[in-house]
Amino acid sequence: MKVLVIGGGGREHALVWALKKCRRVDKVYCCPGNAGISGLAECINIGTDNIRALVDLVKCEWIDLTVVGPEVPLGLGIVDVFEREGLKIFGPSQRAAMLETSKVFAKDFMRRHAIPTARYKVFTSYPQAEEYIRLMGAPIVVKADGLAAGKGVIVAATHEEAEDAIRLIMADRVFGDAGDKVIIEERITGEEVSFMVFTDGKAIVPIPTSQDHKRVYDNDKGPNTGGMGAYSPAPVVDKAMEETIMETIMRPTISLLAKDGIKYKGVLYAGLMIREGKPYVLEYNCRFGDPEAQALLMRLDSGIVDIFLAVYDEALEAATIKWKPEAAVAVVMAAGGYPGDFQRGKVITGLESIKEPDGVCVFHSGTAFDGGYYATSSGRVLTVAALGENISEAKDNAYQAAAKIHFEDMHYRKDIAMRALKYTG
Ligand code: AMP
Ligand code: GLY
Repeated sequence: MKVLVIGGGGREHALVWALKKCRRVDKVYCCPGNAGISGLAECINIGTDNIRALVDLVKCEWIDLTVVGPEVPLGLGIVDVFEREGLKIFGPSQRAAMLETSKVFAKDFMRRHAIPTARYKVFTSYPQAEEYIRLMGAPIVVKADGLAAGKGVIVAATHEEAEDAIRLIMADRVFGDAGDKVIIEERITGEEVSFMVFTDGKAIVPIPTSQDHKRVYDNDKGPNTGGMGAYSPAPVVDKAMEETIMETIMRPTISLLAKDGIKYKGVLYAGLMIREGKPYVLEYNCRFGDPEAQALLMRLDSGIVDIFLAVYDEALEAATIKWKPEAAVAVVMAAGGYPGDFQRGKVITGLESIKEPDGVCVFHSGTAFDGGYYATSSGRVLTVAALGENISEAKDNAYQAAAKIHFEDMHYRKDIAMRALKYTG
């Protein structure tokens, strides 16, 4: 069969790589893809938001299944359009994706259904938001309601930072309409975990746990990024904690959405904070995490296309999904300046010295061809992912591979997965 992956980052490279391993998959397309992905899939330069052109491509090429990587097309309702056209697609509908595309929708849903989350208030008025911050003081968290490419959440350590955040969002409108409403909420401290499940709206199958590293520098210093690295499994979630998360968060989320008339199909991702043995939802995402997917898909030991089809056909209950016992670590290599302004077009060397059978994959997050060479084309450039007997070995394998790669002004965190070693030694 023919499969289309929508997106062009490291997560999509990992999805294409996993699909190519499936015997039933003859050909993979990727829109728009990137230079690394083009080694495995036919990349076609259609934007992830150009739904009409994507429908036309799928019809024209007789593509059997489409898999959506990022949140933007989901928020635009790509799944609803494909279903109306009778085309198979993996991902949640526009209404279901509101768990990610509107933080106000998600918070109100959690409050209504007593799903554990930080206490919050919603504001549409700038002076009232300012007044509330004066009253509450810091630390406090300010969030734009809509999608803001991972930049719409400000964890303010001081009162001034919180005021700056609401001014940026509400007065300067740096995120446009996404800042029409803001949420101001209590800061929760603890251990952060990414918890994802596959669901067809009825059956819910947990994916192994993982942890992202959002800050740009070692020891969680510097501004937030899209994610600088990840590891799986996250030892802070033991069997009992997994059951608590399923019981208090994942199962109620899916079943209560269904009660509200919203069927959720696809990957549901809860960004959790575990505080004193209790999980709280910081945010929902309606897709795989990036870079978590790069680590997780290294561990998948079943055909991913069968999982996607089981979700689409609402037959997930009967599916068997196996994972390798090994651990995985993924390290993101970023362009100089990222997450601020950065330069493109830096030639990348050393890629040819990394061999996949060693359990190491270099997923391209943002690369283009430049005169026959791979060159950088976005802020996150590569994700080096590796397996190992345990987290420590996977980390060593990933960093050994990363050390062979070079591009001018590159930077990457040297402490990915360090926090896990605190638990496992
Ligand atoms: P994003 O994935 O860009 O929405 O990032 C949001 C990040 O902000 C989370 O991953 C947390 O690290 C942090 N965060 C969000 N809400 C809270 C909260 N209530 N308390 C503490 N940290 C938070
Ligand atoms: N790694 C966090 C995200 O994908 O939103």
